[in-house]
Amino acid sequence: MAGADPADALEVDLTGLLLGVATAATQIEGGEVASNWVDWAARPGTIADGSSPVRAADHWNRWREDTALMASLGVQVYRLGVEWARLEPAPGRWDEDAFAHYRAELELLRDHGIRPLLTLHHFNSPRWFEEQGGWLAPGAVEAYLRLVRAVVERLGDLVDEYVTINEPNVFVTGAYAFGEFPPGHRSLREAVRVYGRLAEAHVRAYRLVHDLRPGPTTKVGVAHHLRPFRPGDPRNPWHRALTRTMRHLFQDAIVRAMTTGEFAPPLRRPRGVRRGRYADFFGLNYYSRTTVTRFEDGTPPGVPVNDLGWEVYPEGLAETATWAWERYGLPVWVTENGTADARDAFRARYLAEHLAVVARLRARGVPVERYYHWSLVDNWEWAQGEGPRFGLVALDYPTQERTVRASGRFFAEVAAAGGITAAMRERYVAGHEYPVSEGTPPRG
Ligand code: BGC
Repeated sequence: MAGADPADALEVDLTGLLLGVATAATQIEGGEVASNWVDWAARPGTIADGSSPVRAADHWNRWREDTALMASLGVQVYRLGVEWARLEPAPGRWDEDAFAHYRAELELLRDHGIRPLLTLHHFNSPRWFEEQGGWLAPGAVEAYLRLVRAVVERLGDLVDEYVTINEPNVFVTGAYAFGEFPPGHRSLREAVRVYGRLAEAHVRAYRLVHDLRPGPTTKVGVAHHLRPFRPGDPRNPWHRALTRTMRHLFQDAIVRAMTTGEFAPPLRRPRGVRRGRYADFFGLNYYSRTTVTRFEDGTPPGVPVNDLGWEVYPEGLAETATWAWERYGLPVWVTENGTADARDAFRARYLAEHLAVVARLRARGVPVERYYHWSLVDNWEWAQGEGPRFGLVALDYPTQERTVRASGRFFAEVAAAGGITAAMRERYVAGHEYPVSEGTPPRG
């Protein structure tokens, strides 16, 4: 445009990308629900600050306010979860009031023109499910499929898009290998078995949702947690071998099993799962990269990190999204990306840098169609409790007061402009500095 201020031109052009936020039921809803996490948090020593999901962001009561907040930020797509323990408080007993509650929330989203993506399992299950043996119990997959059917039959007219399972790898390693999530087991053998169960659960849920809601608008996938792995010392053969092993065990094998029904050792093909294509999009949760020197997550000294010590490495979004696209040929939805930053000292920079990667990928022909920022509002961060702050909106836990952070205003401007201009970068990102790592491993 002649005479236009160059500061108004888009430096990062996100035209056509759908922009939104992601949350999970257990992390925001609050309430004394009979779930595995409420029980787990009640056990001393399980949660860093001794908090529990009973308080969280009280979203169960404040969903109207939170939906209005989302609308004010210009959110176009919203990834939310359901709390299984609310919907099915006892095996086979459905709480129709809880379904009505989610229906009202979904209707309000529709009225605001916000498209929902519904997560069916995000680390959470009912107390009775855990007591029956959780995902190790023989009936686990059937129980999960009952939930899927109940949700899609009752809410399917309001939701077309589903994530069957959130981060199978983080869930399995946290719950069955490293003992940090309920049920707190530490067994690689169990972890491998549960991987198989989750793969079967996903494949059958994929078919079930499509059977219940046939048609091209129904989309089903998994939100995979992917990270680049690199050897601490590339000349060290042990580091290199361990890097390959960890990548295979933590992500490559389970991603392949769930997307294509092909099982590489140590995973074993469950009966009834055939080869096929079991995803309509590739859900990618991207946060950080792992540097490998031991059989655990590591961060070297001297790299930019967030409040939790996770390396900030925007290029990793390009690496993981490109890998997913080249390998599976599915449109990529960034189903989570965000950072823990209590002072809001670098979140806008983190957002700008990761969105710049998204724009570059799209320009190169990698179809990144969606970006869901984690998260709308500060939320209960599992074993880390209330400490880490991931929200575009700050939460004062005792008063439950919400305050849009500067990074939230930046998000809103990006959504309104369809990208980032030099003026916006100047206003929100200039002066943002990341902390620098001292080389402590972030999480096991
Ligand atoms: C999970 C979220 C979590 C986020 C930040 C992801 O692993 O899906 O539930 O809050 O990372 O740790």
